Amino acid sequence: MDVIITSEHENPGSIAADAIARLVDRQPDAVLGLATGSSPLSIYADLADRVAAGTLSLARVRGFMLDEYVGLPADHPERYRNVIDRDLVSRTDLDPALVQGPDGLAADIPAACAAYEDAIHDAGGVDLQILGIGADGHIGFNEPGSSLGSRTRIKTLTRQTREDNARFFDGDIDAVPAHCLTQGIATIMEARRIVLVAVGQGKAEAVHHLVEGSISALWPATVLQMHPAVTVILDAASASRLQLAEYYRQTRAGRPAWQQ
Ligand code: GLP
Repeated sequence: MDVIITSEHENPGSIAADAIARLVDRQPDAVLGLATGSSPLSIYADLADRVAAGTLSLARVRGFMLDEYVGLPADHPERYRNVIDRDLVSRTDLDPALVQGPDGLAADIPAACAAYEDAIHDAGGVDLQILGIGADGHIGFNEPGSSLGSRTRIKTLTRQTREDNARFFDGDIDAVPAHCLTQGIATIMEARRIVLVAVGQGKAEAVHHLVEGSISALWPATVLQMHPAVTVILDAASASRLQLAEYYRQTRAGRPAWQQ
């Protein structure tokens, strides 16, 4: 696991966007795994700037979303498909037809989840998965207790996640759906590369478990310790509980330029 603790002059989103831009440069039809939530916003803003400046094109990139609420109407502004369209697709040259998410309005949920797994597989798998992390250590919507071998399926959101996400629903926890569809942990683990961004003190405990804790379904993100190509990009606050923070900083400072 590559742990990058940024200085206050750095933008974690730009560091993640660098990795994405390098990938798309090599492979213009790369498959990106797309996360919602506030963590990836600085990545998407940076990608939008690069597209506007003409230094990056996402026109051939395919995108697979991590998760979706169950039952939100198609035109609901917080439906994740609409969030991704607003925060990323509409601000870049991504082709909306090449972006897919789990169908939270499907009549047959298990069939929709299986179809989503097939679609990712048929696209050749995810080249780079963008991730945030929940305060309770969830990735996607894989809440504590999720099977580390899980695939795309329906999950019940925890009270904590619904409280956290109520800010997107005018502070009304009852307006936050109780269920979601999410790529499973095994699905996420199949991505060739994973870039996780976490900022703020509220993520410090989850980051502590993610990087240095024991692997456990209680903190689902800890499974990423088993993935061979994970980059975790943090600010000082989210890194504040890391025991080896100094070592991660030294490692980064001593890295050859081509690896920065
Ligand atoms: C949300 C999303 C996750 C996200 C996490 C953290 O509920 N389903 O994909 O990573 O919770 O959200 P945020 O980045 O807003 O803190």
